[in-house]
Amino acid sequence: MFKVLTHQPTDPVLALMGLFERDRRPGAVDLGIGAYRNEQGRIPIFRAVKLAEQMLWREQDTKSYIGPAGDLEFLDALWSLVGGAAGGTRATAGVQTPGGTGALRLAAEVARRAGRQRVLIGSPNWRDHVEIFEAAGLRVERYPFFDVPSQTMLFDRIMEAFAAAGPGDVAVLHAGCHNPSGAVLSLSHWSAIADGLARRGILPVIDIAYQGFGQGLEEDARGLRNLVAQVPEALVAVSLSKTFGLYRERVGAIFATAATDGAAEIARSNLVSVARALYLMPPAHGAAVARMILQDARLKQDWTSELEDMRLRIALIRSMLASRLAVRWPALAAMSDQEGLFSILPLDEAQIMNARSNHGIYMSLCGRINIAGLRMADVDRVATDIVRL
Ligand SMILES: Cc1ncc(COP(=O)(O)O)c(C=O)c1O
Repeated sequence: MFKVLTHQPTDPVLALMGLFERDRRPGAVDLGIGAYRNEQGRIPIFRAVKLAEQMLWREQDTKSYIGPAGDLEFLDALWSLVGGAAGGTRATAGVQTPGGTGALRLAAEVARRAGRQRVLIGSPNWRDHVEIFEAAGLRVERYPFFDVPSQTMLFDRIMEAFAAAGPGDVAVLHAGCHNPSGAVLSLSHWSAIADGLARRGILPVIDIAYQGFGQGLEEDARGLRNLVAQVPEALVAVSLSKTFGLYRERVGAIFATAATDGAAEIARSNLVSVARALYLMPPAHGAAVARMILQDARLKQDWTSELEDMRLRIALIRSMLASRLAVRWPALAAMSDQEGLFSILPLDEAQIMNARSNHGIYMSLCGRINIAGLRMADVDRVATDIVRL
């Protein structure tokens, strides 16, 4: 029977990680997978996570099932972090999910169930958004979001795409730290987007996967909070993979915001029923750790300060790299004003393969680099190699 199937390609970024791990050259760098590496080249565990895991090991007295919506206290603590005071002004219902990917899949399934047929996704964009929404049966429409050679965000084109859309549509937005461009939306951009979406009846799905890695924990949620307050309904997909360094534990949540508690609860019941048919309930461990940190002032303070150190270190590496790459591509000076883990370089596939084979520099075939994968000590050499490609 399996012979009637066709072989499916592996995830290119995960495949790249596998290739990198087998590369024994001493100077090899992995700028592919979106994970934070420290100056030792390790993807670290947060101090607060280690402590919370120890506490959990001592205190946890059962491994019984949790409900399909997950841990409600975790969800409350998380919504305070993401939605802030503005989030409290909207009726909100959340469901804990296996990572941000799980949250996005539930969002897509429920949007489809509610009759939405098409999803607007900018270009370039994190590839998985396209796959997730297509898997849920939505038609994907791309619009130009960012121009790589000039490193500019195409705000007018974004607004044109929304003006041409309508109530059958969904728009996926990155709360910040845009993957792959690092392009920054200002608060006035967010207000105009919210206005455009509300006017046309488009349902926003806002993806927040890098809170704390852009301009700060509060700052990175400002646009999202603004938007949620301005549109009648929204879905907010949260990933804690990077923000708490809990990648493999699969921690995330999907929140529905609405005008009334009744509408939010209907959304939650649908999110839960989709989850039930997919995986029944989310894994508990990572969310329990994140909840412990969010509810304990001392752990929260330590986690916040470690995250802030990471953010500042990435920003420094980003500006060092930008100034070196701008020698060949002046437009890349703009990289230092971009935010988060990623930027996208104006390289073709042959140059990217050359970087990998001859210099041990692993990056996605679209030219995306994960700046947080670079050690400060490697910036000069890597920049010199890239400039010479
Ligand atoms: C923009 C964006 N959204 C969501 C995710 C989902 O992450 P996870 O499913 O690991 O929580 C990622 C991961 O790379 C991402 O880059």
